[in-house]
Amino acid sequence: MTNISSLLSEPEKSSPDDSIHQAPACDDEHEHLSQLTRLRNCHEQNIVDGDEKEQENDDVDDADAKELHVAPMLDYSKREFRKLFSILSTRLVVWTDMVVDETIAHTERLEDILERDRDLPNKQICQIGGNSEELCGKATQVVELIYGYDEVNLNIDCPSDRVSQEREFGAILMKNIDKAYTVLESMQNNISSDRKTHVSIKCRVGVDDWDDLDFISNFIERLSPVCKRFYLHARKCVLNGLFSARQNRSVPPINYPRVYALCRKFPNVEFWINGGIKNLVQAKKICYGSLNPAHCHDYHFELPCSQCQLPHGSCMVPPYEVVPSNLRGCMLGRVAIDNPSIFWDADRYFYGMKCNPNKNRREVLEKYASYLENLYPRRCCDIDEEITYGIPVPKINQLRSYCPICRDTYETDEKTNNEEDKTANNVNINNNMIEIQQNNKIKITSRIVGRSLKPVRGLFHGVPKGKIFLHACDEAARDTSIRNCGPGYILRRVMQQIPSQIMDLPFILSEDTDVE
Ligand SMILES: Cc1cc2nc3c(=O)[nH]c(=O)nc-3n(C[C@H](O)[C@H](O)[C@H](O)COP(=O)(O)O)c2cc1C
Repeated sequence: MTNISSLLSEPEKSSPDDSIHQAPACDDEHEHLSQLTRLRNCHEQNIVDGDEKEQENDDVDDADAKELHVAPMLDYSKREFRKLFSILSTRLVVWTDMVVDETIAHTERLEDILERDRDLPNKQICQIGGNSEELCGKATQVVELIYGYDEVNLNIDCPSDRVSQEREFGAILMKNIDKAYTVLESMQNNISSDRKTHVSIKCRVGVDDWDDLDFISNFIERLSPVCKRFYLHARKCVLNGLFSARQNRSVPPINYPRVYALCRKFPNVEFWINGGIKNLVQAKKICYGSLNPAHCHDYHFELPCSQCQLPHGSCMVPPYEVVPSNLRGCMLGRVAIDNPSIFWDADRYFYGMKCNPNKNRREVLEKYASYLENLYPRRCCDIDEEITYGIPVPKINQLRSYCPICRDTYETDEKTNNEEDKTANNVNINNNMIEIQQNNKIKITSRIVGRSLKPVRGLFHGVPKGKIFLHACDEAARDTSIRNCGPGYILRRVMQQIPSQIMDLPFILSEDTDVE
């Protein structure tokens, strides 16, 4: 088992794919990257109900720009998932899923869980779960010092029985404010003084019968000395076991006006809003406000909201006329799983950059396949026995650049050398490899293939005949004969089966989507 003190004394590790850099595929890629820097001083475009208008304040810098976050989602928000969203947008803020404090204390191969890709331009936040001052404090140190995340977040949102009832962390901490306070205090105390890493929480706006502005105001007031950043999943949760975690994400009504009221009440606290957002148009309206009289809050002040006409009486009205400056952005969850393509337009449409990194799904998948090839090198061309089941991958010695299976994909003019092929040595190697494959020694686990393909499964959502991609993924993931060629190869093989009119179909501009 790994001891936390020994971890903390380790030198900063570099990721196995430190050398990989995904260049954005703008028409002018340098232009795209330099925009990242220029945007720090550039004022944001403010779009109100489709009409573009310049923001009055010319001095708006990055700290004031609104943010778009991809929510933490258990078993999804792994490094491959974060990479996909980084390929889609250089500015989206990406999260880990919840890592339990005890896991950080006792897991041997922490790299697999916590390692982040250091070359991502995106801000990366690590979420931890727990209720122990000591373990959460130490976990904060590990996450910040060793793995270098930009922010450490405490999960006070999760309502699942296993977390909230059995382990007494997650959403139940909304009922135990003293405990939440001491845990957050310990996390703050464990942030190194020379770093500006933030500690934040993600919580609901109410819990069980405590579902009013007074309750959540008191919660924030009590915690604000040790936490100034709140990601608010804008619905209450029900912890009495009547609702599953899934129902707790859809049955209690969403209450955005409560979040706006909190913004006004706590001007020195920063808030992000989460729950039910389906697209970038909605996200932008929430962040930059609306002048549409139908969004005047006089008509939206009570739940169930008769104006929004959403299931369960939810109210998702955007701020009307004035957006609180401490409403720092919004967070999208399930839509990132179901329909990740909508984020293709985040850099341009939401962040006001000149262009986006990709124009179609082929470009996204090419970059993602290259990433997988580097992260999980193919194992068809070595004679090592060790299995690849996580990060770091075994130290393998590649004997050849391709095997008889992946030859067509990886063979390049440069690598093709008939003379070389004829050498006795290479014949032996080829025989070895074929023997290994015939003996069906699968060296890359299905878990690796699963987590590699998972982020892209929804990429063709809504595209006519897009299901071909999903079926091809399922089939390729099951095919053990190609497993050792690695998840990058498997994805390329899937791509070969998709008609080019689908692969090359241009993404649709957010303004042109039928969203409301
Ligand atoms: C599969 C799944 C796993 C989730 N895991 C986490 C988690 O680990 N930590 C957390 O704070 N929220 C978790 N959530 C909640 C989301 O972060 C988000 O708050 C919720 O889905 C509401 O946002 P949405 O309506 O945009 O999906 C999870 C949600 C889903 C669907």
